[in-house]
Amino acid sequence: MSVLVLGGAGYIGSHAVYQLIDQGENVVVVDNLETGHKESLHPNATFYQGDIRDIKFLRSVFEKESINGVIHFAATSLVGESMENPLKYFDNNVYGTQVLLQVMVEHDVRNIVFSSTAAVYGEPDSLPLTETMATNPTSTYGETKLTMEKLMKWTEHAHRLNYVSLRYFNVAGARESAEIGEDHRPETHLLPIILQTALNKRSHVTIFGKDYDTPDGTCIRDYVHIEDLIDAHLLALNYLLEGGSSDIFNLGSNQGFSVKEMIETARIITGKDIPAIVGKRRSGDPSTLIASSAKAKQVLNWKPKRTSLNQIIQDAWNWHSLYPDGYGKGVGK
Ligand code: UFG
Repeated sequence: MSVLVLGGAGYIGSHAVYQLIDQGENVVVVDNLETGHKESLHPNATFYQGDIRDIKFLRSVFEKESINGVIHFAATSLVGESMENPLKYFDNNVYGTQVLLQVMVEHDVRNIVFSSTAAVYGEPDSLPLTETMATNPTSTYGETKLTMEKLMKWTEHAHRLNYVSLRYFNVAGARESAEIGEDHRPETHLLPIILQTALNKRSHVTIFGKDYDTPDGTCIRDYVHIEDLIDAHLLALNYLLEGGSSDIFNLGSNQGFSVKEMIETARIITGKDIPAIVGKRRSGDPSTLIASSAKAKQVLNWKPKRTSLNQIIQDAWNWHSLYPDGYGKGVGK
C-alpha cells in the first residue's frame, strides 16, 4: 500500500515525502511542478507529473497505484495573489479538491490529511486561537481553504470519507539534514527573505509596518518547525487509518515572535548584518496570530521537538547557506 502525496514537490510536501520514506512507507507523488521543484523530489518516491484538476490523469494514478491514504498539499498559497486573482484560487484549490474527492470516492480511498491554514480564522477576537473559534477569512486564499474543509465535511457525510484538516500557523525551517528546504518563486515569506538578505541575495528586508498594537510595533506570528509540522501529518494519517474520526487541528507553537525579533535572532545565528528598513503595512496582515495546539497534542499525541526559534532559524540557515540559489533558478524571479 502507498501514501499519495499531492503537491509532493513543494516546500511542505517534499518534507512530508522525506519523512514518510524515513518511516519505510511507499510514497507516490503527484505534482504539476508549477510551483514545486523537481530537485526536491525524493529519489525513492514514484512521481507522476500532472494536475489534480485533470480527472483522467488523477484516475490513472489511482488505477495504477494501490493507495490507502492521501496527504493533500496541492494548492496555490499566496495571500496577495489570491486577492488579485480570486478565480485562479477557486479553480486550483477548490475545484482541484473537488476532483480529488470524486476520484477518492470512486476508488474507495477514504482517508485524507489536508493542509489548511490559520488564514481561515481571519482577524482573531482573542488569543490563542482554538479550533472552535469563528472562521472569517480576510483573503480569498483563506476562503478557498475553508471551502476545501467544507467539501471534505459534506463528502464525509455522504460517502464516509475520513479527514483530518491541519490548520498551519507560520511554517518555517528545513529538514535537519539540510537536503531540502524552502524556496518559493516569488519568495514572500519572512524567514527565507531574511536569510537571502544574510546571503547578500537581497539588499535588505522590508519590515511591513511598525505601528501595530504589539510591544515593538511589528507583527507577531507563531512559527512552527517544518519537521514537527510533518510529524503531525504522519500522526494524523495513522489516527485515520486506525479508525479515528474526522477532525480539525491547529499546528503552531503557542508562542509569538515579532518581525523584529525574527530579524534580530537571525542576525545572531548567521553572524550577518541583515539590513532592514521599515515600509508600509502589507494589506490584510493581522497584527498577531498565536495558536493553541493543545488539541493536536492531546488527540494526536503530537510532540514538537524542533520548534524553538533558534532551531527553526538554524535549520533554515543550514539549508540556505548550503544552497544560496535555492533550487537553482535564480532568487527573486
Ligand atoms: N513580513 C515582513 N516583510 C517581508 C515578509 C513578511 O515584514 O518581507 C512580515 C509579514 O507582514 C508578517 C510576517 O512577516 O507579519 C510573516 O509573514 P509571512 O509572509 O512569512 O507569513 P504570513 O503570516 O503572511 O503567512 C502565513 C502563511 C500563509 C497563511 C497566512 C495566514 O505563510 O500561507 O500565514 O495569515 F495564509
